[in-house]
This record gives sequence, structure tokens and C-alpha cells, in this order.
Amino acid sequence: MTVSAEKSYEIQDSGVLTFPEGFVWGAATAAYQIEGAAREDGRGPSIWDTFSRTPGKVHAGHTGDVACDHYHRYPDDVRIMRDLGLAAYRFSVSWPRVQPDGSGPANPRGLDFYDRLVDELRENGITPIVTLYHWDLPQTLEDRGGWTNRETAERFAEYAAITHARLGDRVETWTTLNEPWCSAFLGYASGIHAPGRAEPALGFTAAHHLLLGHGLAVQALRASGAGKVGITLNLSPVISDDAEAAAIVDGLQNRIFLDPVLRGEYPADVVEHARRFTDWSFVRDGDLEIISRPTDLLGVNYYHPQTVAARAGEPANPVYPGSEGIAFGGADAPRTAMGWPVQPFGLTDLLLRLARDYPGTPLLITENGAAFDDVVEDGEVHDVGRLSYLDGHLRAAHAAIQGGADLRGYLVWSLLDNFEWAEGYRKRFGIVHVDYGTQRRTPKDSALWYSEVVRRNGL
Ligand code: FCB
Repeated sequence: MTVSAEKSYEIQDSGVLTFPEGFVWGAATAAYQIEGAAREDGRGPSIWDTFSRTPGKVHAGHTGDVACDHYHRYPDDVRIMRDLGLAAYRFSVSWPRVQPDGSGPANPRGLDFYDRLVDELRENGITPIVTLYHWDLPQTLEDRGGWTNRETAERFAEYAAITHARLGDRVETWTTLNEPWCSAFLGYASGIHAPGRAEPALGFTAAHHLLLGHGLAVQALRASGAGKVGITLNLSPVISDDAEAAAIVDGLQNRIFLDPVLRGEYPADVVEHARRFTDWSFVRDGDLEIISRPTDLLGVNYYHPQTVAARAGEPANPVYPGSEGIAFGGADAPRTAMGWPVQPFGLTDLLLRLARDYPGTPLLITENGAAFDDVVEDGEVHDVGRLSYLDGHLRAAHAAIQGGADLRGYLVWSLLDNFEWAEGYRKRFGIVHVDYGTQRRTPKDSALWYSEVVRRNGL
């Protein structure tokens, strides 16, 4: 998809913006990034425990062992959300807390934690939104092939059912996977994330089994009477002067997940493109019917568009197998601490494209946010860069709603500074600052500003 830069963002750059009535405002986190308590109450090891202990994989050897100590401090964190006036909180359940080695009966003490958290949220008027898989696969399952093994998809559905049985009376909204693109292509094709395997073919195999796991989990959740069910994808509009380069990257980033889930088929051009790596024999009869079981919402994680150009001799980017001859980056835009370009118009374009190409599924922004090098000064954090990033993206989301996108809510990434995967603790995405030495929480200016946005239901 080729998009033109200025168009959409200009539409609504002034005046007061009000979001639709009932628009859901909240924040998101993930288990391994905030909980800590890595060995408590029977939790088993996950691939991120192993990976973060592998020399050279995570910045400065950081691990999630302690993280934000949310496992013990969750009442304080819920209070912070209540004080900010947030209506919803998206967190993930740690599979290895629920099933320490990925199969068999539940570990009740692991589920007890989420039970307490859900009650605490509800007592404070905050709606829990559960993500079942935010990357912390039980290590025992990885030892049997992880997501390259079809059986992992079946284990995932069992875990989904177990978790729903315990929390489903109080949790209405469930998302199965967070960003299967990252699990497959960062985890198995390029080795940048856990489990650190690096073969293009494995990326495609893992992607399919993740999708199958999603479909089987949707079935399991429906069978146990779940309210709303969906999946969260990380989607990026692709900007390019070169239609072929744009189609390749768009296929590998977006359509390889959107099409099976929402149309029941893999895109023909992606299947063709990947043939040099795989014969796709892991796709069995009936799989796509399972994968495309109707869902109630699509979770959208948006950070920035991908700008690409055709450039002869460019080596393949390992996270996009077969992308030789394509140069990545080069957007003319300000950057966050991750080096990601700040281009809010991409969110408008993305949401409008989803509304157009995949109509009928309500959208929820399950993540959007930015890392900056924040400092605490006299008990305050003046994070103007983040505040302006969020402001721009909310305006972009509003423009999409006006253009017809069925957007139901917005969850900022993240409530707290946390363990940013391979970057460890050095990248701060929180609207609340965490001092990792003292575990002191300090709401940043962006949090105070966001609280006001939530109160007014607009900007
Ligand atoms: C997303 C992840 C989330 C966080 C943000 C910055 O890809 O889902 O855990 O790391 O990026």
C-alpha cells in the first residue's frame, strides 16, 4: 500500500475533538515486562527467562526477574490507574504461571494472582481486558519445538480454556495472541527475540501455528461462553515509491495475519514469495476455517509506518525473509528513543484501510505509545515528546473515526516503564515513571494530560 504523507493528518488539526460516547480509554502492559516474581508461587520458566540469561541477547543482561514488581505492588498500580480515571486495563496472563510446563492441570497459585488482580480492578471501576499470550511461552514447550511444533497450538487452546474457567465470570474481553508477527519473525526467523532461532522457514511455520493456536483458542473460549474474543496484531502501513517493494513488506507484515484471520486465506502473493523458504506443507485441510472463526474485535498495535525503497544490492532484512533489494527506514520525521519515526498520519491510514479492506470487525487500539529518555526532576517528569506523540496519534485516531473506522477504544502503551524485551530497561514507554532501584512510581506529565483527555472524552 502506498500512502501519501500529509493528507489525513491535516483534516482535524485544530479545535476541540470529542470521541464517540462509550469510547474506551485505558492502558496496557504485559506479564513478563512488569510482574517480576519470576520464581514465585510455582511459576515455571518461559522462553524469555532463558533468552534474557543468554549472553548478548538482552541489553546489559537485564531480565524480568524483578521488573516493576507488579506481582506484589498491583494494588498500588491499580490505584494509580483509578486516580488517572482510566476505564480499562489490558494485561497479559503468564502461561507459565498457569501451567508451569505448558500442559496439564492448572497451578492454582498462579491463577490466584490474576484472580486478585481482576477483583482489584473491578473494585476500582476498571474493566479488565485479558491477553492470553504476550510472548512468554513455557520453556518446556519450546524444548519440544515451540511454535514450530503444531502441538503448541493445541496446548495454547487448553491453557485458554483453563484461564477462562477461572476468570471468565469477571472478564468479558479476551485477546488470544499479542503480535504474532513478533513471535514468528523476531523469535524464529531472525533470533532478535526469544527463543532466538534464526531460520526464515521457521518464521512461516511459527506464524501458521500461532494463527492455528489463535483459532483453536477462539473455539475454546466460545465453548466456555466467553464474551468478546479477538486477536492483537502489530500493523504498519508501508510507504514507498516502489509498488513491488511495498507489496512485499505489506504482505509479510500485515496481510499474512489479517487475511487468514479475517478472510480465511493466505494472500496468494505472500504464499508465492515464501515458496523459496517453505512449501507450506504445515497448512492442513481445515486449518484456515479454524483460523478464521468469527471474532468480535481486532486489536491494533500501531507505532509507526514502514518506509521502504527499492535498492539494488541491499541484503535481506532478516525479519522480512526474502526482502533483499529493499531498503528500510529513511522516513523524514522526528524520532523516538527507539529510533522510530513519529508519523501519526500512518494511524489514520491504517485504520481507514482496515475499515475498507476488512469491514465488519470493530477495532480497538490495544497499543500505541513512545519511548523517550525521561528524567525525574523534583518529583516530576516533563515528557513533552511523549505527550505530543500521544496527542498527534489521538488526533489521527479521531480522524479515522470521522472517516468511518469503527474504532471502539484506545489503550496507551504503557502504563509503566518496563522491561522492553531485547532493549531491557533502558527504553521507557510508560506514562508512569518507574525508578527500578526503589520501585517508586511517578506519573509523568503525559499521564496527567492523558487523565484529562479521558475525563473530557476528547482533546
Ligand atoms: C510491542 C509489544 C509491547 C512493547 C511495545 C513497545 O511490540 O507488544 O510489549 O514492547 O511494542
